[in-house]
Amino acid sequence: MSTTTETRLEFRKLSARVGAEIRGLDLSSDLSDATIAQIREALNTHKALVFREANVHDDETQVRFASRFGPLTQAHPTVASVEGKPAVLPVDSENGSANNWHTDVTFVVNPPQASTLRSVTLPAYGGETLIASSAGAYQDLPEELRDFADTLWAVHTNDYDYSVPKNLEHANADERRKEFTRIHFETAHPVVRVHPLTGERGLFIGGFAQRLRIVGLSNTESKDILRLLQAYVTRPENVVRVNWEPDQLVLFDNRITQHYAPDNYDGQPRQLNRVTVAGDVPLGIDGRSSTSIQGDSSVYSETVELRADVSGAPL
Ligand SMILES: [Fe+2]
Repeated sequence: MSTTTETRLEFRKLSARVGAEIRGLDLSSDLSDATIAQIREALNTHKALVFREANVHDDETQVRFASRFGPLTQAHPTVASVEGKPAVLPVDSENGSANNWHTDVTFVVNPPQASTLRSVTLPAYGGETLIASSAGAYQDLPEELRDFADTLWAVHTNDYDYSVPKNLEHANADERRKEFTRIHFETAHPVVRVHPLTGERGLFIGGFAQRLRIVGLSNTESKDILRLLQAYVTRPENVVRVNWEPDQLVLFDNRITQHYAPDNYDGQPRQLNRVTVAGDVPLGIDGRSSTSIQGDSSVYSETVELRADVSGAPL
């Protein structure tokens, strides 16, 4: 397309705080830098973007589109990629559903900045993806609780009781858990993370956040505080429920959202393929950055330095 004036993309909001969709944007085409900048701007605003009828029928198209937002990570720090496609992670119901709230790969010091999911195999019903705004959660906290949250740090790890849901009786659950935890990662992140492009603050917790770094606080009480904060993330006002169609891609900002895949499709096959964009090391409100306690993530992902100019555009 060689028009001189760039078409303004029309994203339709799906809820007040999170999510917007667009139908018929051809993601396999050679999108201009200006179009990608518009998508980035929309992502900064809406946090999750749903592309329907996107002409995204294969991994190559997904990989090419995701690459426009930065270097890609490997598929996962511990889990195998789709055969021969090192950046593509199969998110497959065969391996158990992700029915816990989480932000992708927060157990490493440089979690992906953004995730893309593409529909591959869909159940006849159910199988939606719920996406929550952790910025909405932060805004909803009463002031005293917000001040408290501002001071907290949490340890995120991939090796804990429910890192692979045990309630699902998959034949390969044990094997899957072994693969998931084959390298033990632990990272300390600020509970309140400042988004590098927008300056927005969000609660950066989710399923991999297993304990607070408060000397003298027991794990049980630590979990109680995390649970209290998490309750604000999952308030219905902060959540959009995205249904899946064939030929659909969802792009979400992994720095300021959490997601959840309800196990509501009666064991029908469901597969989404995931490709993630390398991210920055999170920063707290005092400018301190996350620190790795255990596990080297440099093979999994490079670290992308992200700063914004006043308009929120990456420098
Ligand atoms: Fe996920």
